[in-house]
Amino acid sequence: MKTTFSIIKADVGGWPGHAKVHPDLEEIARKKLTEAKRDKTILDFYVAHCGDDLELIMTHTNGVDAKEIHSLSWDAFCEATERARDLGLYGAGQDLLADAFSGNVRGMGPGVAEMEFTERKAEPVIAFMMDKTEPGAFNLPVFKIFADPFNTAGLIIDPSLHDGFVFEVWDILEHKHVFMKTPEEMYDLLALIGAKSRFVIKRVFPKKTSKLKSDEPVAVISTEKLYQIAGEYVGKDDPVGIVRAQSGLPALGEVLEPFSIGHLVSGWMRGSHNGPLMPVSVEDAQCTRFDGPPRVVALGFQVKNGLLTQPVDLFDDPAFDLTRKRAQEITEYMRRHGPFEPHRLPMADMEYTTLPRVLKKLGNRFKKVK
Ligand code: F6R
Ligand code: MG
Ligand code: MG
Repeated sequence: MKTTFSIIKADVGGWPGHAKVHPDLEEIARKKLTEAKRDKTILDFYVAHCGDDLELIMTHTNGVDAKEIHSLSWDAFCEATERARDLGLYGAGQDLLADAFSGNVRGMGPGVAEMEFTERKAEPVIAFMMDKTEPGAFNLPVFKIFADPFNTAGLIIDPSLHDGFVFEVWDILEHKHVFMKTPEEMYDLLALIGAKSRFVIKRVFPKKTSKLKSDEPVAVISTEKLYQIAGEYVGKDDPVGIVRAQSGLPALGEVLEPFSIGHLVSGWMRGSHNGPLMPVSVEDAQCTRFDGPPRVVALGFQVKNGLLTQPVDLFDDPAFDLTRKRAQEITEYMRRHGPFEPHRLPMADMEYTTLPRVLKKLGNRFKKVK
């Protein structure tokens, strides 16, 4: 039996503004998924939030892109939207871009990360959820987890990791993908994924020489870009990711280690600013200061026959206090730049925000320089 691990998420209403998910919406999702577990559509689930994003974490045997699972998620988001409307929550139904479900939530607004794999004897899986940023925010940490020997000691020490991994990278503008091997193609890979608003890591696979199955991913990231779906800015495409760990893969601590940087990501305030990614507990996953700063939450599960243990809230640890303090200092420094780049995103990335409308007004006042 193969297990599918899915995270499907959407912002269906903020409390207040774009700060957080109201507990009623999580409760509605829990009720819906409890029914689905009872009628065996799914094996298990966990409902969480990161900022204003409602996160459905599910296990099942239907494989990725399964209609049953996507329609279940769509229905859960629609029911939560109704409650969001009743409560007058902000931007109710914001990420549900289509009027009716058409078989797959991809391209309809919600973000999706799913992987199907053969469970090992013990299977640690980490669900990462981010708010106020974009899929490219995962590039740096996922690269470091699977390819940086200064991060992942196992790449040097453990013979089963020593051969490296295969990265699937998407060009989200051209809708193309490429597979690249590390360590041998590490410099080419970095040449691409350093441009994180265009090239994003979609999946990581073990190599053929690994004991693990080389066609089953060990990491997957959601790559929906809402502005490409909707044609204009309708909220940020706050990404989610799934990473498997241990026994021939990076250890849990090697998976978490890159998040100790508080690296700079795009998507803060109006999807238009750069800021540090702050690792926080679920309880602290509410975006307040300047609608942020961008946050990441990590829930760690053991998966057995598709069933989930209770998660451990992995960044709820004083070991990340220094990172949080540094992120706050960087926040303070970057905020002093106000509307100036590089706090504000470069013009090309502002194309789908509301800024072009402001500039349009000035259009005919510009005269040719003689
Ligand atoms: C939402 C986000 C927020 C909003 C901002 C303006 O994910 O990043 O910073 O962009 O609060 O929101 P509106 O335009 O809805 O008033
Ligand atoms: Mg919102
Ligand atoms: Mg959000």
